[in-house]
Amino acid sequence: MEKQHLHKFYQKNRTERIEALAAANIISEEDKLALTDHLALPEETANHMIENQIATYQLPYGVGLNFLIDGKEYAVPMAMEEPSVIAAASSAAKIISQAGGFETTIQERTMIGQIVLKDVPDLEAAKQVVLDHTEDILQKANEAHPSIVKRGGGAKAVEARPIAADDQVQTPDFLVVHLHIETLEAMGANIIDTMAEAIKPYLESLTNGAALMGILSNYATECLATARCQIPVSLLARADYSGEEVRDRIIEACQIAIVDPYRATTHNKGIMNGIDAVVLATGNDFRSIEAGAHAYAARSGQYRSLTNWTKAENGDLVGTLTIPLAIGTVGGSISIHPGAKFSHKLLGNPSAKELESIIVSVGLGQNFSAIKALVTEGIQKGHMGLHAKSLAISAGAKGEQVDVVTEKLKQSKNMNLATAKEILEQLPN
Ligand code: MEV
Repeated sequence: MEKQHLHKFYQKNRTERIEALAAANIISEEDKLALTDHLALPEETANHMIENQIATYQLPYGVGLNFLIDGKEYAVPMAMEEPSVIAAASSAAKIISQAGGFETTIQERTMIGQIVLKDVPDLEAAKQVVLDHTEDILQKANEAHPSIVKRGGGAKAVEARPIAADDQVQTPDFLVVHLHIETLEAMGANIIDTMAEAIKPYLESLTNGAALMGILSNYATECLATARCQIPVSLLARADYSGEEVRDRIIEACQIAIVDPYRATTHNKGIMNGIDAVVLATGNDFRSIEAGAHAYAARSGQYRSLTNWTKAENGDLVGTLTIPLAIGTVGGSISIHPGAKFSHKLLGNPSAKELESIIVSVGLGQNFSAIKALVTEGIQKGHMGLHAKSLAISAGAKGEQVDVVTEKLKQSKNMNLATAKEILEQLPN
C-alpha cells in the first residue's frame, strides 16, 4: 500500500478516489472498471437471490482508511447510508495506527446448532442420556453433512441445557441440546440447520420428548472476536482539552454505558455503525451479527456497553471490544454478489478469522471516534457539514453548486431546506 496517494482522499471526487486507490496499489485496473460500474448486481443474480424481486436497492460504498490491524494495513470496504461513519472510522484508525494499531484475538470459530425438546418427562435424566450418547449424536449430525467433515470441520461437541418451567412467564420445561459445529470458512447456517434437523428424531428417542425445532443460534458465544488498542494521551489532546482530560472523559463515557441501558443502546449502536457497514459490504448477514452482539451486551443480565475503556498503568487509554462474530468468507451471497466479492478482494481475500479481526477493530475504532467527539466538541459540529451537503443536494444543487451552497448554508443562521433553496436561487446561472 503506497499511502501517499491517499492523502486528502475525502477531498477528491469519486473518479479521483478510484484512481488514488489504484495508484496506491490497493486495486487493479479490472477493479477500477468494476468500481466505475458501481459493482452492479446483474439482474439475473438479483432475481435468484430473493423472491418477488423487482429492482436492486443501492447504498453508498466507501473505504475506511488508515487501518493497521495486527501489523497489517487495510482499506476497509463499508456499505452505509449514514454520513460521518466512514470519516469517523478513518480518523479513529489514523490515531490508533499512530499508537501501534489494533491487536486482535480470535479464540475459536465454533457455531451452535440448537435442538429444542419439549414434553421431556425427566429433564435431568434426559440430559445425562444425551451426554452419554455424545459420540452417536455427533456421528448422526456429521452424516447429515459429510462434505464439511471431509474438509476438517463438522459437529465436534454436544451440550445439554435443561430449562425448567417458569411460572412467572408461564413457560413449560424444555431440554435444549446444543451441537458445537466447526463450519470453517463459512458462516454455515445451512450446515448447522441441516445437522440440527437431522438429529431431531434420534434426540426424541433418547429423551422420550418431542422435538420442537432445530436451528442455529445467532448468539454465537463460541465465536468471539476481541480487538484491543492502547493510545498514549499525547495523541488525544484537543484545543479545549488536555490528553488526560480526553482520556478520562472517554473512560467516563464508557462507564455511563456500562450502568445505563439507555446510553448503552446508543453507545453500542455507534459500534454497530462500523461493524454492520463491513458485514454488509462483505456479503454477510448483518441481522445475525446485530442480534448476537446485543444478546452478548446483555450477558450479565443487564444490557451494557460492548466496549471497555480504561487507564493503563502508564496513563495510556486502553480500549477493548469483544463480540460474537459468526461471519464467513464463502457461502450465502458472498460468492455471487459482485460487491461482496469485490470487498473480499479489497481486503486481500482474508480468512474468516482475519475478517473477524478486521470487523471487530472497525467496531472499536468507531466507538472511540464517537465517544471522543461526544465528550469533547460534540458530534453535531462534524455532522452539520455533511447535513448541509445533503440539504444542498435535496434543494437541487448540481455539480459545483453543491459545494458553494453547502459552504453558504454552513454560515447561515437557519440550516434547513428552505434556506438551501434560497441560496441556490441566488446563485448566478
Ligand atoms: C450515531 O449514529 C452514533 C452515535 O450516537 C454513537 C454514540 O452515541 O456513541 C454517535
